[in-house]
Amino acid sequence: MCGIVGYIGHREAWPIVLKGLKRLEYRGYDSAGIALINETGLNIYKKAGKVQELENFSVGKDLSGTIGIGHTRWATHGAPSDRNSHPHTSNSGKLSIIHNGIIENYATLKEELIHRGHIFKSDTDTEVLVHLIEEIYKNENTDLFEAVRLALNEVTGAYAIVLMDEDQPDQLITARKGSPLVIGVGTDEYFVASDATPIIEYTKNVIYLNDNEVALIKRDELLIKRLDNVIQTPYIQALELKLEMLEKGGYEHFMLKEIFEQSRSIRDCMRGRIYPNEGIVQLGGIKEYADKLKNIDRIIIVACGTSWHAGLVAEYLIEEYARIPVEVEYASEFRYRNPIITEKDIVIAISQSGETADTMAAIEMAKEKGATIFGVCNVVGSSIPRLTHAGVYTHAGPEIGVASTKAFTAQVTVLTLMAFYMAQQKGTITHSQLVELLTELDCIPDKIQKALESNDLIKEIAAKFKDSRNCLFLGRGSGFPVALEGALKLKEISYIHAEGYPAAEMKHGPIALIDEEMPVVVIATKNSSYEKVISNIQEVKARKGIVLAIVTEGDTEVRKMADYCIEIPDSSEAFLPLLATIPLQLLSYHIALMRGCNVDQPRNLAKSVTVE
Ligand code: F6R
Repeated sequence: MCGIVGYIGHREAWPIVLKGLKRLEYRGYDSAGIALINETGLNIYKKAGKVQELENFSVGKDLSGTIGIGHTRWATHGAPSDRNSHPHTSNSGKLSIIHNGIIENYATLKEELIHRGHIFKSDTDTEVLVHLIEEIYKNENTDLFEAVRLALNEVTGAYAIVLMDEDQPDQLITARKGSPLVIGVGTDEYFVASDATPIIEYTKNVIYLNDNEVALIKRDELLIKRLDNVIQTPYIQALELKLEMLEKGGYEHFMLKEIFEQSRSIRDCMRGRIYPNEGIVQLGGIKEYADKLKNIDRIIIVACGTSWHAGLVAEYLIEEYARIPVEVEYASEFRYRNPIITEKDIVIAISQSGETADTMAAIEMAKEKGATIFGVCNVVGSSIPRLTHAGVYTHAGPEIGVASTKAFTAQVTVLTLMAFYMAQQKGTITHSQLVELLTELDCIPDKIQKALESNDLIKEIAAKFKDSRNCLFLGRGSGFPVALEGALKLKEISYIHAEGYPAAEMKHGPIALIDEEMPVVVIATKNSSYEKVISNIQEVKARKGIVLAIVTEGDTEVRKMADYCIEIPDSSEAFLPLLATIPLQLLSYHIALMRGCNVDQPRNLAKSVTVE
């Protein structure tokens, strides 16, 4: 939530910062702003709306300067408006700051600062930071870097900040606690950003700042300290990200590109981890805990949104194959309960971004209570993998569309591998079963490619559903999380109200909604609950509901009843979620597009939810 970019070096900062904001726009798009320093002093341009609005607004203005900071906002404190946009300035107008996160004690600090004569120009929590830093800088007879360090020691909450001083155009100061921040290291130039995407074009060398660290960045010098004043040695690492991964590659939208990438992303995710002929799963990231897995009491999965749905799929798989009891929890609820957790529990935290605040808090709580934490994350080097004891990356590549697609199927793939790995360690699966399952899993990328071939048919069906006001998604077994995910995708990008239900639950309430205007999407593939799902379809049809069924290739039974059918290749039940999700993603995409919605940046959402 909120994207921040900073640059100091020998090039013009404006184009670098502006382009960086475009790359980070997935993190929030309520408003945007850039501050630059040149020989005339500090220039700030900010605008409510998307980065494009800022770009339009800046035409003809003085955009020169080799030091600059920029921000794209997802509003928390203060409505999206020009005045609440970042950068914010101090009382003297000389210091400017950008911030991602939430300052929890801002109200107390603000009151105190107002008392000391500070005049606030916005309703944001962020502005308090820049006033506080100036107050300390003025009174403590210290340099600005030290003033920032002292100020941050008075702050509670989460932040990634970058600060500039009009009087010292040779330095940027940056710090983080609980919100992500990467420093790109060039030759006599540095880049700062919420993630590596604005940096990759200029350098592959990055430093991931740790929580409670503050950095002084000059063109040819970098000093990192902890908030307790201990100097840190920077650890420079090479990025694996490639620039083309951040481009649309000929597709109209990132979401469509990411849907079509799934055959490749799932293959990448399995690479080097499955050996079908030998019947072996290898997960280097959790290998150290292989023995522990034999004796654990329980697995608790914590996640939010789509990642939580992946957790529900994992519950079926782990219980089925590894015979370990699994609980799947919304991280936001789990963290505020007093759950019973012991040292014999393993907590699996699932997160595409690796930055979700609630998931991070749930991890910290479980860690304190002695559990072992595994992470399943997509963004390499993000906060969650650094908080957990061990983990498995999903390797889906950058996901730019705000609605999660390829990250979900990659999460499900990793969790499937984890379930098989646990079963292998515990001996709850036979070697021949594993050979059979892995051989089939190895073919799933090809089957996904096949499922994607229904795109044109799905587009036609989308045209029939596009004006619906509500939609039900039904599934049983592991088809239930698929139904939940289908409903979430539809509502978040098309703004059609949609609900996912276990098919059998329909008659306990939602059936009342069914009439000739209600589309009902049913996961009706040939698996253990096929006959039961057929009965559920009949119940819908008896009430004149419109049924769109996701069926197994060659199905004739469901076709007799359903209004529309989309086929997916046959597979064992274990892999049904991977295949059945594909048509639902495409359905949402086309419906949203036909309704004129912004599919890549749906309203009110942000990709990385770094506030609770
Ligand atoms: C929906 C979506 C969100 C995220 C959720 C968790 O398409 O993307 O529901 O799944 O915000 O985010 P991560 O996985 O980054 O923790």
